[in-house]
Amino acid sequence: MIAIYPGSFDPITLGHLDIIQRGSRLFDRVIVAVLRNPNKIPLFTVQQRLEQIRLTTQHLSNVEVDGFDGLTVNYAQNKQAQVLLRGLRAISDFEVELQMAHTNKTISTQIETVFLATSNEYSFLSSSVVKEIARFGGSVDHLVPQQIALEIYKCYNHTSPIANPITTEPLPPLKSMPTEPET
Ligand code: PNS
Repeated sequence: MIAIYPGSFDPITLGHLDIIQRGSRLFDRVIVAVLRNPNKIPLFTVQQRLEQIRLTTQHLSNVEVDGFDGLTVNYAQNKQAQVLLRGLRAISDFEVELQMAHTNKTISTQIETVFLATSNEYSFLSSSVVKEIARFGGSVDHLVPQQIALEIYKCYNHTSPIANPITTEPLPPLKSMPTEPET
């Protein structure tokens, strides 16, 4: 069975990689499909994202990486895929994802959407979170594949992250408040 894992992947995170790895154990082939989306201004070009995903999934022999335009369902049909694979992090994802799955079903009844619950450690993680942290000089080493982190830092003009907030000096203790005079 062939599964398409569609998305923006701007950039690929460890959460995406987790879904790809687990998907590759469930399906004969997984095609990671990067949407060419004219409505979004991305951090990385589609070409860069394809290269990043290829680099980080090269150890998975049944995973391919491709770009696509237009409707995901049409792309899936062209690839003779039966499944759209998506990760679910939280209830907030569920609403959007369910709507998308239902919409896709109205376009083609042949394609099923299969959700994988994101592993606990990545339940908060998104490409937007990664960009937000990197933009303000924080470390994203623990959030994206190693090779990608450096490329992200370059985009924000810093070659290595400034101190991670968790590792900075603890705040000094609060000064004790003056006590009210007793009446
Ligand atoms: O990584 P993302 O941005 O959450 O991925 C969203 C994506 C690319 C899967 C979705 O926007 C999509 O499938 N777009 C292609 C257009 C389409 O098929 N729309 C119908 C489903 S609502």
